[in-house]
Amino acid sequence: MPHDDIILSMNNITKKFGTVKALSDVNLEVRRGEIHAICGENGAGKSTLMNVLSGVYPFGSYSGDIVFDGKVCKYKNINDSEADGIVIIQQELALSPYLSIAENIFIGNEQAKAGVIDWNETRSEAAKLLARVGLPENVDTKIMDLGVGKQQLVEIAKALSKNVKLLILDEPTAALNDEDSAHLLDLVRQLRNEQGVTSIIITHKLNEVADIADDVTIIRDGSTVGQMEITAETPLDQDELIRKMVGRELTNLYPDHQANKPGNEYLRVKDWTVHHPLDADRIVVDHANFYVRAGEIVGLAGLMGAGRTEMAMSVFGRSYGSRISGEVYIKGKKSIFPMSNRLSMLGWPMPLRIAKSTV
Ligand SMILES: Nc1ncnc2c1ncn2[C@@H]1O[C@H](COP(=O)(O)OP(=O)(O)O)[C@@H](O)[C@H]1O
Ligand SMILES: [Mg+2]
Repeated sequence: MPHDDIILSMNNITKKFGTVKALSDVNLEVRRGEIHAICGENGAGKSTLMNVLSGVYPFGSYSGDIVFDGKVCKYKNINDSEADGIVIIQQELALSPYLSIAENIFIGNEQAKAGVIDWNETRSEAAKLLARVGLPENVDTKIMDLGVGKQQLVEIAKALSKNVKLLILDEPTAALNDEDSAHLLDLVRQLRNEQGVTSIIITHKLNEVADIADDVTIIRDGSTVGQMEITAETPLDQDELIRKMVGRELTNLYPDHQANKPGNEYLRVKDWTVHHPLDADRIVVDHANFYVRAGEIVGLAGLMGAGRTEMAMSVFGRSYGSRISGEVYIKGKKSIFPMSNRLSMLGWPMPLRIAKSTV
């Protein structure tokens, strides 16, 4: 695309972590004012590439070069890239739960007069930004009282306060329900159409790519394996995209379930209730019940913030939470173990391991 106005080009980016080569000669070209999707399987290197771009991994810690808006970039940290109008919203949201929306938007970028924070200005500017992202909340509301979808909008409001030219969203809808996802994607589209904001969006959801992206770059095992342009005349070929992402023909996206015959009940958790470790009035897990039979795999599904990790950790050695109540049975026998001690679990007949969820 020689005639296009390229706002960003990343050329031959290679990044190693010790002996692990996370990125190998990756190329990315983004046109001004477009929504550019980056697709690839887990571990492909998408987040690493964006961290290189935004200075999280500073100049010198990778090889290759970055040109943004006509300028060669040698960012030492995230502040440097923000000064150029590149704002990244990380996979894990980085807001402070105990601060208000207004405080979060302007943290590190305070609205101050003569060295003193101007709260009237802070609150009225925050209110204007919330209106721009379509979030009808009071600016004094604490972040912890907002759902993930709304927190995501606060992150975007914060990005707008920094005069963003390139907005990077790393799997923004992974933890959102359909309605919140649709609102977020509409907003990204609106920023493009009305303010010419360029966006890079990392997502696994192919329908979102088809819906919102103008271009897609596909990364596999740390290398760029393809780029596809999406227009009204040439809509996204999802099969082609999947083939590029996984590197082989995929005849069956959801292979047949292999039947397994589980044994007898091994673990049962009854009426498990857990309160927040710092805010003992807040219920995080509310009378949860589940059981596990010998030899089976049990999935815990739920949106981010639903309490999956908290439930698992509170059962495992009570390593999360306060005011825990409920019962645990092992092979039908009620289990009693000392409170608040991870090591107490060593006495359990079965090693329970909790893997951190990555979804
Ligand atoms: N800080 C790190 N230290 C060591 N290895 C890392 C680090 N960050 C990422 N990696 C490795 O780099 C590869 C790419 O990771 P990542 O960019 O997070 O993938 P993606 O975002 O596409 O899922 C993976 O193999 C991952 O294990
Ligand atoms: Mg990632």
